[in-house]
This record gives sequence, structure tokens and C-alpha cells, in this order.
Amino acid sequence: MIHMHLTAIIIAIILFFVSATMQAGSKGQKVTHMILRVFYILILISGAIIFSTQMAGAMAMQYGLKLLGGLLVIIMMEIVLVRKEKSKSTGTLWVLFLIFLAFTIYMGFHLPLGLKFW
Ligand code: HEM
Repeated sequence: MIHMHLTAIIIAIILFFVSATMQAGSKGQKVTHMILRVFYILILISGAIIFSTQMAGAMAMQYGLKLLGGLLVIIMMEIVLVRKEKSKSTGTLWVLFLIFLAFTIYMGFHLPLGLKFW
């Protein structure tokens, strides 16, 4: 399940950047955004399953923060793309997205099931 989570995240982030760099309102952007939404669901389901089996214990608080971070990353991706489709500014939202993403990836690898890079 952790591998499904990681695979879905990598594909989702690539799709997000592809969609975000496409011309606003173009067909390509709409299609990549729609596929990205399917990956949100895969990330949520895989994350929720791992969360429900792992969170009880001494690291419950950190699991809670990881869940919150993951939700915020998905919310930011969605807001950035919807605002881009409406040709509205996304500057600050990108900064927030990158902060939440860095935090969530750190927490994901920091928690016991994550690969140990640090
Ligand atoms: C786009 C948003 C998200 C990103 C970028 C992200 C990132 C990550 C990463 C990098 C890992 C480590 C994976 C590995 O080592 O193979 C991980 C693990 C995990 N994620 Fe996410 N995640 C996101 C969303 C979520 C959501 C929404 C939930 C909860 C519903 C969640 C719950 C978890 C849990 C429980 C783990 C396992 C932690 C452990 O025990 O080591 N994640 N995540």
C-alpha cells in the first residue's frame, strides 16, 4: 500500500506540473486535470488505509500532521489549477503548495514506513 501511495504521488505531481504549464483553458489542461483528480482519490484511499493501520501509538500526533499536510497539498493543487483555468493569479498559492509539499514529503519519509533518507 505504501508503494501505491508513493507511485500515485509521483504521477500526481508530474500531472500537476504538466497541467499547470499548459495553456490556461486548453483541452490538454482540462484532460490532465481530470486524470489528476483520479490520482487524488488513489492518494487519499492509500493514505487513509496506511493511516488507519499505523496511526495508533506514540507517533499519533505526527501521523495526524502528515494527514493534514497531505490534504493541504491536494487542496493547493486543486486551487492552483482551478484559478489558472479562470486565468486568475496563482503566485502566493504556488509558494504555499511548495511549503506544504516539502513538509508532507519530509513527514512521509520521516515516519516509520517511509524509506529512510535521513
Ligand atoms: C499529495 C499529497 C501527499 C504527499 C505528497 C504524500 C507524501 C508521502 C510520502 C513521500 C510518503 C512516504 C512513502 C514511502 O516512503 O514509500 C508518505 C507516506 C504516508 N502518507 Fe502520504 N502523502 C500525501 C497525501 C496523504 C494523505 C491525504 C494521507 C492520509 C489520508 C497520507 C498518509 C500517509 C501515511 C499514513 C503514510 C505512511 C507513513 C509511515 O508510516 O511511514 N498521505 N506520504
